[in-house]
Amino acid sequence: MKLAGKTAIVTGGGGGIGRAVSLRYAQEGARCVVADVKLSLAEAVAKEIQATGGSALAVSMDVTKQVDIDQTIQAAAKAFGQVDILFNNAGIFEMAPLLKSSRESYDRLFDINVKGMFFMMQAAAAHMVEKGIRGKIINLSSQAGRRGEALVAHYCATKAAVYSYTQSAALAMAPHHINVNGIAPGVIDTPMWATVDGLFARYENRPIGEKKRLVGEAVPLGRMGSPNDIEGAAVFLASADADYITAQTLNVDGGNWMS
Ligand SMILES: NC(=O)c1ccc[n+]([C@@H]2O[C@H](COP(=O)([O-])OP(=O)(O)OC[C@H]3O[C@@H](n4cnc5c(N)ncnc54)[C@H](O)[C@@H]3O)[C@@H](O)[C@H]2O)c1
Repeated sequence: MKLAGKTAIVTGGGGGIGRAVSLRYAQEGARCVVADVKLSLAEAVAKEIQATGGSALAVSMDVTKQVDIDQTIQAAAKAFGQVDILFNNAGIFEMAPLLKSSRESYDRLFDINVKGMFFMMQAAAAHMVEKGIRGKIINLSSQAGRRGEALVAHYCATKAAVYSYTQSAALAMAPHHINVNGIAPGVIDTPMWATVDGLFARYENRPIGEKKRLVGEAVPLGRMGSPNDIEGAAVFLASADADYITAQTLNVDGGNWMS
């Protein structure tokens, strides 16, 4: 077990990638704080972990609210003593043609994917610095942050920001021996993809399901990823095996992006 004795917070832990990583972290021996804006989803994941003998706590939290962020750190510390790992995963997807994209969508995307990501990371890092914990922080970026897309400008920009904050935070936290890295998934078959596929259907005038099929076929490894495909990188970057890796964002995308 690679994470025995560690405590991990997984934001957006109730759905897709966050759920898979929460379950895998628990299998690897971590005590898991499953934090999600949808408490019922977080509770279901925590129950799954507990049913297999693992330790988990479900927390209702919205990464756009500083009070929720602070309470999540406090709840984790109260239940399990300290926080060693942050899997900073909560995020949303929206898209629209550039000339029609709205201020409201811009604000939602940047509030959750950038501001929420940053202040969650800051709170976890502050806790680790205060307690002298040589922690691990993993931020979820995307292949979408590696380049622009005509219909997806705001989401792409939020994920480019995640790369940048990962690098800055890694440098700021290096003297404290806190590793800050990222994962850039490609196309992963999660509940988020129902939204993505529906929006592409609308704006590219396609039947529902077509975009999802096409992006899967275009992956060099020949298929969309499943949430479980992210687990290995998530465990590796959270473990002592990654002690000498920081400021990196690892592509987990079946070969979609080469860097
Ligand atoms: N699925 C993909 O193809 C893909 C590709 C690249 C990057 N990503 C990124 O991976 C991360 C996880 O994506 P996913 O596909 O599992 O998404 P998902 O929509 O399936 O799950 C996201 C979870 O985050 C929660 N959440 C949303 N807003 C929140 C908030 N304000 N505070 C707390 N929790 C909140 C949701 O309730 C949900 O449980 C996201 O950051 C996403 O941008 C996904």
